[in-house]
Amino acid sequence: MSSPDLISSRPLPSCAPPGVSSCDTPIYDIVTSGKLIGRGIYGSVYQILIKGEGHLAIKVIPCNGMQSDIPREAEMMKRLPKHENIVEFFDVCREGEFYFVTTRLVTGGRTLLDLIKSNGRYRVNQSIRHGFPEDAARSLWLQVVSAVNVCHTHNVVHRDIKLENVLVDLIGTPGSDCGFSAQLKLCDFGFATVSERGQNLCTYPGTFAYAAPNILRGVPYDGHKTDVWSLGVLLYILVTGHFPFGNVRNVDNERRILNAQFVWDRHNASVPYRVLPVIQSILSVVESNIPYLSDVLKMEWVKTNPQVP
Ligand SMILES: Nc1ncnc2c1ncn2[C@@H]1O[C@H](COP(=O)(O)OP(=O)(O)O)[C@@H](O)[C@H]1O
Ligand SMILES: [Mg+2]
Repeated sequence: MSSPDLISSRPLPSCAPPGVSSCDTPIYDIVTSGKLIGRGIYGSVYQILIKGEGHLAIKVIPCNGMQSDIPREAEMMKRLPKHENIVEFFDVCREGEFYFVTTRLVTGGRTLLDLIKSNGRYRVNQSIRHGFPEDAARSLWLQVVSAVNVCHTHNVVHRDIKLENVLVDLIGTPGSDCGFSAQLKLCDFGFATVSERGQNLCTYPGTFAYAAPNILRGVPYDGHKTDVWSLGVLLYILVTGHFPFGNVRNVDNERRILNAQFVWDRHNASVPYRVLPVIQSILSVVESNIPYLSDVLKMEWVKTNPQVP
């Protein structure tokens, strides 16, 4: 995509964002004087207003001895076309010991986890009790599916699909039947990599609660399938309000993932029973039985939504 000249292989300090006039000020100081809007394992994210560009989110990532010009996540985002459900890549540069990966700010900086919490039924003891109504859950889930579908079509696997990595632009009030409209944007391509269908990957990133059996076993896996597994976990959470295999890494929960042993409370009237075949099919113990995303899109419950990508 064309973007202003924030990226730079030129000598510093010319990599300062456009609109920032003081070339004597290191970009690190400019960025970190902005509002801190997120802190993850690998970097902190700051909000900064750039003249002529508007609000941007800049992730500051320590280089940790990496020699490459740009970090993996920027490389992955650059491969993808602009899409309404993927956070928009803006630019990247490096200054000294830090990379600065810049994306368009998603107003509010809320994540899907925040949205579920504000659904009004979330308990503070970490046990989410109820999911969204069926149509809301489907429309939210399909937005993430749509984003991942674009990634997979371009042979990019995300490898860390989870509530915290889906940003939410919210219009309206959550809590009631579709009493709000949310535009979701997949972010955080820090674990993403290029991989074709059927290719075996042998590094094991990601987050326990969303990890497919082969990742936990530490055996080669198909990143397309393990992304679909994570989407299955996400769908389960959206409709039930629970993690299918628990959120904490322990022996019991690990066994439950390895056996794809999730609880389905059919007595809970708020859980749409029609979604069960989709979840069952996705959360398959044997990797070859996990469908590719293109097959998920053909499933009955998925197709009933007019917004299928
Ligand atoms: N473009 C953005 N707009 C708004 N908030 C963002 C944006 N990018 C990241 N954030 C905030 O920063 C947090 C961490 O970003 P993320 O890319 O997931 O980094 P990490 O690798 O540290 O997990 C997100 O959960 C979100 O709250
Ligand atoms: Mg993250």
